[in-house]
This record gives sequence, structure tokens and C-alpha cells, in this order.
Amino acid sequence: MNLFDSFQIRDLSFRNRIVVSPMCEYSSEDGFANDWHLVHLGSRAVGGAGTVLTEATAVLAEGRISPSDLGIWKDDHIENLTRIARFLRQHGAIPGTQLAHAGFKASTDVPWRHQGKPVSIAEGGWRPIYSSTAKGFTPESIQPQALTVEGIAGVIEAFRLAARRSLDAGFELVEIHGAHGYLIHQFLSPLVNTRTDRYGGTFENRTRILREIVESVRRAWPERLPLWLRISAADWTEGGWTIEDSIALARQVKPLGVDLIDASSGGIVPHAKIPVGPGYQTPFAERIRKEAGILTGAVGMITSPEQAQQIIGTGQADVVLLARELLRDPYWPLRAARALHKEITWPKQYERARI
Ligand SMILES: Cc1cc2nc3c(=O)[nH]c(=O)nc-3n(C[C@H](O)[C@H](O)[C@H](O)COP(=O)(O)O)c2cc1C
Repeated sequence: MNLFDSFQIRDLSFRNRIVVSPMCEYSSEDGFANDWHLVHLGSRAVGGAGTVLTEATAVLAEGRISPSDLGIWKDDHIENLTRIARFLRQHGAIPGTQLAHAGFKASTDVPWRHQGKPVSIAEGGWRPIYSSTAKGFTPESIQPQALTVEGIAGVIEAFRLAARRSLDAGFELVEIHGAHGYLIHQFLSPLVNTRTDRYGGTFENRTRILREIVESVRRAWPERLPLWLRISAADWTEGGWTIEDSIALARQVKPLGVDLIDASSGGIVPHAKIPVGPGYQTPFAERIRKEAGILTGAVGMITSPEQAQQIIGTGQADVVLLARELLRDPYWPLRAARALHKEITWPKQYERARI
């Protein structure tokens, strides 16, 4: 396998294995996409990425991380997203969206003000916020309410409706955000989920909400289109979620219609010691791929064309997701192709810069 090989999942052809990793832009009002999102996501499609994923897009208003998050909790959001999905498609990229609920990390501030700090209602924040239990991320965080079984059903239905709206907007790929300490992860991880009902306790119970969300999304999301799942493959904390749990989860969700596991990590507790370094999460993608027999995505400090090619070429993962490197350079895929001596199609408007 090569970085610039095209490939297929279900009925969809991807032009290469480079994915724009979801990145919150904190630039929406009332969840609406705007010119910023069009230009930001659009330039990365022009830059040659095979797939462009939106930032974490809230399935419920109360599930936004900050008041400025992108959302898809109402039909009114569809129109602006349609323009973006169409532009990405016109420029050869698969338009994808990441569906999310922040759980106990909701109603917090944008990074350029007081990142992670609660936002008051006067400043556009909201209460209550919800999690699997009534314990907050930190003692200083807003303390959440534990979702009732009816509340859980509401979240599962919100994911289905969001998937239907994503389809209406022209997206061709949905990624469920089950990572980084947000709501789904707050159910998966034993560090947070101490519920005693059918949504807590055993591995089977802690993973139930995710299986139900996958089934619910699949009811709205056509068979012909791919569904991806981002997880934190490990909590990096004693007593937390492990890579073995991730492999077991991947085996469970594959028959439910998940095509690819995007293997990130961490985020459920503030004190985890994460050995951040080049490609530090890639071994998770490799193990899940080999041991669960499912496609995987590697993410985390992938920055050079040679490194990305090596991950794909040695079969550690099926796609690479890049975040910060694609903020530094939206044309990274065009440059990577040159560095790896691959002939790819440039946007015709930019042809004169090719040689
Ligand atoms: C500005 C910014 C916003 C991010 N927002 C999201 C997000 O909305 N959803 C998500 O799953 N990860 C998010 N991430 C994490 C990235 O997708 C990625 O997993 C992480 O940055 C590691 O990749 P990198 O080393 O290539 O940056 C964000 C990262 C950055 C830098």
C-alpha cells in the first residue's frame, strides 16, 4: 500500500490515504457553518487531501464543547454545510463530518480565552450539562448530571438525526467521536463510568451506548457509505480503558457497520501521563488493525511524507490523519506527492506552480 494509492470503502473511492483530522475552529454562532469553515476546509481539499473531516459537530446544542462549536442539531444547519460538502467534493476530497457530544466537557471556553474553563450563562454557556455520572472532569469544572435512561435514548436519537442531516447536506462519510474524554468516552472508561444500570459496570454495559449509537446512525446512514469511529485507544492511566478493550470494541462494532477505527488516545482524566512523540499513537492503529481485522487510521504527530508513507507502506494503518501539520500547510499533500515522486492531479488553477 502507498500513501497516494486510491482505495475504496463500500461504494466510495478515496483518491489517497491522507485525511484532514477533525479540528475545532471555535468560529460558529449558534452552530452554523460560515465562510471560515468553507475556506478552511475548502483549502485543504484544494491542497490534495483525500478526505476532509469537519470539526466535532454537535448533535445537540448542549453537547457543544464551547458556544462557538459547529453544530448539526437542527435542520437549519444543513444549508451552509451543503455548500461546504459540495465544494470539497468538487475538488476531489471525500466530504466527511465528525458527529460529537461533549458530555462533561460542554459549555467551556474557547482556547484563545480561557481554554476548558466553564462559560457562564451570561457569556453564552448553558446548564445543565450531562455525563455518564454526576462527576465532573475536574473539581473546578461544571458538575454534570448523570443521564437518565430516557436521556441516553435522546442522545442516541440525536446521533441518528444528525446522520440524516449530514446525508442531506451531501456528506459522504460520518465519523462518530468516541474519543478524548467526551460523552461516549465518559461511558466507555471505567475511570468515569461507575453507573450500576445496564449502561455501566461491565465492559458489555459500558460499551452499550456506543453500540446503540452506531446502530442508530446506521439506520439513517446508507449502506453504500462508510462509517468511521474515533476512539481513545487507551486512557494511559492505571485502571482505565486499554488497548485490549479497544480491540474487543472494534470486534463488536465492525458487524454493526463501522468500517474504520480512528485510533487516538487520552482525554478522559486531566492527569494522564501521555508519552507524546512522533507517531506515538500509531501502534494502537496497528494492533487494532491486526487483531480485530478492521481498517484503521493512525493519528498523532505525523508530519513528514516519509513517515506517513512508512505507516501505510508497512501496513500499520489504512489511512493517516493529520491535524496540526495541515494547519501549518494546507498544501501538504501536494508537497508530499512531490517528495515521494508520485504523479498526482493538481487543481488546474494551480498547475503553473507544479514544476
Ligand atoms: C485546533 C485543534 C482542534 C482539534 N479538534 C478536534 C476535534 O474537533 N475532534 C477530534 O477528534 N480531535 C480534535 N483535535 C485533535 C486532532 O484531530 C488530532 O487528533 C491531534 O491534534 C493529533 O494530531 P496532530 O499531531 O497531527 O495534530 C484537534 C486538534 C487541534 C490542534
